[in-house]
Amino acid sequence: MTDDFQQRVAAALANPQHMGELPQADAVGTVGNADCGDMLRVWVKFKEEGGRKVIDRASFQSFGCETAIAAASLAMELIKGKTAEEALQMRGEEFAKDLGPLPPTKVHCTSLVEGAHREALAPAAAQPPVA
Ligand code: FES
Repeated sequence: MTDDFQQRVAAALANPQHMGELPQADAVGTVGNADCGDMLRVWVKFKEEGGRKVIDRASFQSFGCETAIAAASLAMELIKGKTAEEALQMRGEEFAKDLGPLPPTKVHCTSLVEGAHREALAPAAAQPPVA
């Protein structure tokens, strides 16, 4: 791994955001990776805003590597204010773009973040829009 990448991950980990269970969450998603054994859980709380149901808060808990934690921390901030449908358009590499190019061995870490957020948001996206 490059020093630049490690420095960006360390910076994200120095002040991780949105860690821990979100009480009274509207949705929860959990995904594990059988190859590395890591796991990530995401909680999402929605609110009404301008006639849209948007993500008010999101948090995560990780039993995984530093890259997954750093990417999850960034992802929780990026999905705030989006509808479930909008957030579902986002991919793991977008969540981790502030970390710079990922070493090939770390690409799956952002897939873990994407998978957990999909697991949480897909049921909400399937619901009819708020009247
Ligand atoms: Fe498996 Fe990072 S090493 S999630």
